[in-house]
Amino acid sequence: MVAQLLLTILSALAAVRGCDDNDAHNHGKRPTPLIPLTPPSRPLEWGDINIIHTTDSHGWLLGHQKESFPEPNYSADFGEFASFVQRMKDIAIEKDVDLLLVDSGDLHDGSGLTDGYPAGDVNGHDANRFVRQIPYDVMTIGNHELYNYNVTLDMYKNFVPNIKGHYLSSNVNITTLDQEENPLNVPVGKRFAKFTTRKGLDVTALGVIFDFTGNAQNTTVQPVADMIREEWFAEAIEDEPDLFLLAGHMPVAKNKWPLVFDAIRAVHPLTPIVILGGHDHIRDCVQLDERSMSLASGRYMETVGWMSLKFDSCELEGGVTFNRRYLDANRVTYEYHTGRISTAFDTRKGLRITRGLKALAKKFNLDFFLGTSPRDYLKFMAPYPSEDSLLSLFIEKVSPTLNRVLLFHPRPPRPAPSQPPSTTRARPSPSS
Ligand SMILES: *[C@@H]1O[C@H](CO)[C@@H](O)[C@H](O)[C@H]1NC(C)=O
Ligand SMILES: *[C@@H]1O[C@H](CO)[C@@H](O)[C@H](O)[C@H]1NC(C)=O
Ligand SMILES: *[C@@H]1O[C@H](CO)[C@@H](O)[C@H](O)[C@H]1NC(C)=O
Ligand SMILES: *[C@@H]1O[C@H](CO)[C@@H](O)[C@H](O)[C@H]1NC(C)=O
Ligand SMILES: [Zn+2]
Ligand SMILES: [Zn+2]
Repeated sequence: MVAQLLLTILSALAAVRGCDDNDAHNHGKRPTPLIPLTPPSRPLEWGDINIIHTTDSHGWLLGHQKESFPEPNYSADFGEFASFVQRMKDIAIEKDVDLLLVDSGDLHDGSGLTDGYPAGDVNGHDANRFVRQIPYDVMTIGNHELYNYNVTLDMYKNFVPNIKGHYLSSNVNITTLDQEENPLNVPVGKRFAKFTTRKGLDVTALGVIFDFTGNAQNTTVQPVADMIREEWFAEAIEDEPDLFLLAGHMPVAKNKWPLVFDAIRAVHPLTPIVILGGHDHIRDCVQLDERSMSLASGRYMETVGWMSLKFDSCELEGGVTFNRRYLDANRVTYEYHTGRISTAFDTRKGLRITRGLKALAKKFNLDFFLGTSPRDYLKFMAPYPSEDSLLSLFIEKVSPTLNRVLLFHPRPPRPAPSQPPSTTRARPSPSS
C-alpha cells in the first residue's frame, strides 16, 4: 500500500518536466511536432490483411506535449491519428486490400482528459466521445474499464452502442437492472463477433481479458480457463473463418493466451490466428506457431502497432507471411506512411477531433498554469542518486516536506474508539 502510494506520487512527479516555453501550456495552434523528427527509414509492408493496433491509451489523446526527448516522438494527437487512419484506409482501397483497426483496452485513467472530470461526472465519458469517432473494427475491455462501476456502466450504456465496429468482452459481464428493476447480468459488449472484410474474408473475433480480480462489484470477470470451456465458446470457434482475430487485454508473452490459442488450434490446426494484446504497456511480439503472430503496441498513444498478413496462395495449406512494425505516434511518421504532408494530410474529421479535445482540456481547466520546473527529472533514464534523478528529487527535496499522516493515512480519521485499543485490552488485568 505504502509502495503503491509512493509510486503514485512518483508518477505524478514524472509529469513535472522542464519546459522553457510557457506556450507549451497554451492549447492554441502549435506546430506539430515542436522538435524536428527524422522520418521513418522505410515504408510499411502491406499484405492482404493489414492491421492498425492501439492499446492502453489511458486518455493520452492530445499527444505528448513536452519538448524533451523522446516525448516529441509521441506528439501526435488523436485528431491526427484519425486523419492517419482515414488516409491509410484510402490507401488500402487503392491497393485493394483489407485494413482493420483494433484496440485492446484501458481507455481510462492516466490523463487529465479522462481523470480531470468535474464532480458528478464519470471518468472518460467525455474523452471517449472522441475515441468512438475512430472507425475501430474491434475493441476490447481493459481492467481500467472495471475499477469503478460507473465507468463500466458508462461503457455499456453510452460507448458500446455508439461505436461502429464490435466491442468485445468475451469474459466480462456487467450487472444492471432491467425494466422491472431486476438484476440483469450480461456481457458488457459482445462475447465474439463474426464479420466479413471488405475483400470478403471471414473473421471470427474474440475480446479476452486476463484473470483480473480487482474489478468493481456488479462486474464479473470469468477466468480464461473457464471461458474456453463454455458452450458459446465452442460454438463460436466451430466454423472455420479465414482468420481468427484475438484482441485482448492480456500481455502477449505469457499469461493466458496459450489457453485460448490451444483451444482454437485443437479444432483448426492451420487457420491463421492473430493476437493483439496489451496491459503490460510494452512493445512486444511473440509467435506461437508458424501460422500465427502476437503483437502488443505499448501505451499512452506512444505507439501505433502495424501488422500485415500476406497469403502465399489461396489454399488452406498455403503459407502466411507476417510483417509487423511499431510506429512512433507523431505527425512525421503519419505523413511519411500516408504520403501526404501538411494540409493535404489532415481530414476535416481529424481537425474537428483535435479542436474538440482542446476544448475539453480547457473545460477541465487542464491549461491551468501551475509553474515551471527548472529541469527534467527522470525516473528510469537517470542514475540514482543524481541531479537528474526523480528519485533523488523525491527523497532529498520532497519527502522532508511531506506530512507523514497525509502520506501514509490518506483516509479520513475514524471516530475515536469507545474501547481501549486491543493491545492494552489483551494485557491481563489484575481484577479479572
Ligand atoms: C524517436 O525518433 C527518432 C527519429 O526521429 C528515432 O531515431 C528514435 O529511435 C525514436 N525514439 C524512440 C524512443 O522511439
Ligand atoms: C457513481 O455515480 C453515483 C451517481 O452519480 C455517485 O453517487 C457515486 O459516488 C459514483 N461512484 C463512484 C465510485 O465514483
Ligand atoms: C449491485 O447491484 C445490486 C442490484 O442488482 C444492488 O442492490 C447493489 O447495491 C449493487 N452494488 C453496487 C456496489 O453497486
Ligand atoms: C454473463 O452473462 C451471460 C448472459 O446473461 C450469462 O449467461 C453468463 O452466465 C454470465 N457470465 C458470468 C461469468 O457471469
Ligand atoms: Zn494499461
Ligand atoms: Zn491494463
